[in-house]
Amino acid sequence: MREHTNEPYSLPDLPDFERIARAHAMRDSLKQRRTCRYFSDKPVSREIIEAAIEAAGTAPSGANHQPWHFAVVSSLEKKHAIREAAEAEERAFYSDKASGEWLDALTPLGTDADKPFLETAPWLIVVFAQRKGGIDDDAETQNYYVTESVGIACGMLLTTLHEAGLATLTHTPSPMGFLRDICDRPSVEKPLMVIVVGHPANDATTPVHAARKKALSQIASWL
Ligand SMILES: Cc1cc2nc3c(=O)[nH]c(=O)nc-3n(C[C@H](O)[C@H](O)[C@H](O)COP(=O)(O)O)c2cc1C
Repeated sequence: MREHTNEPYSLPDLPDFERIARAHAMRDSLKQRRTCRYFSDKPVSREIIEAAIEAAGTAPSGANHQPWHFAVVSSLEKKHAIREAAEAEERAFYSDKASGEWLDALTPLGTDADKPFLETAPWLIVVFAQRKGGIDDDAETQNYYVTESVGIACGMLLTTLHEAGLATLTHTPSPMGFLRDICDRPSVEKPLMVIVVGHPANDATTPVHAARKKALSQIASWL
């Protein structure tokens, strides 16, 4: 039987203007984040990737089971294998599997089946969601709210990388079971996404459509 104990918790007693200023600063910084699809091969220090994954690892999770694994890929061989497999799935998606409505929704983003960034960018972080494992990583204990928990961790990962001045791309080839094989992960883990990390290419652009964000009045109600 597990035990329950508490420890003290407090936060700095900031004046309200300081809290508001911090919230505004974070919002304004995050407004600058864009999904980047044109990367340079300029190296990125492993220390940044480690810190960002540690930041992601602080995320809240169902029963604190932390049901995530980040497979960090930098070898040319593995990146090539991921690109080959992802492009094969993406060719099937764009030519056959995707509905007309889905393809129409993607048109303003200009995406297609070619994914050169999977080889150009210095780092690929392949995110896995663990159906089982618990806090002790025993591969048997049931995990809870897995997708929600891993989604929050990914948000914190993306935020940290952006704050570190790096470009990211959230890539979801579908289906993506091949990532489990290439990254040597067990069958209790489900690949959720590939987060491509690096510096934007000198001539990088982003779709105008991506900058169109809903206003506060559209995304919030106050009761
Ligand atoms: C779960 C998820 C899956 C995504 N999958 C892809 C993808 O496979 N390929 C891609 O180019 N962009 C992908 N994106 C990026 C979105 O297209 C992008 O976030 C959106 O257009 C908004 O642009 P922004 O990130 O620059 O704000 C994905 C984003 C999310 C959150």
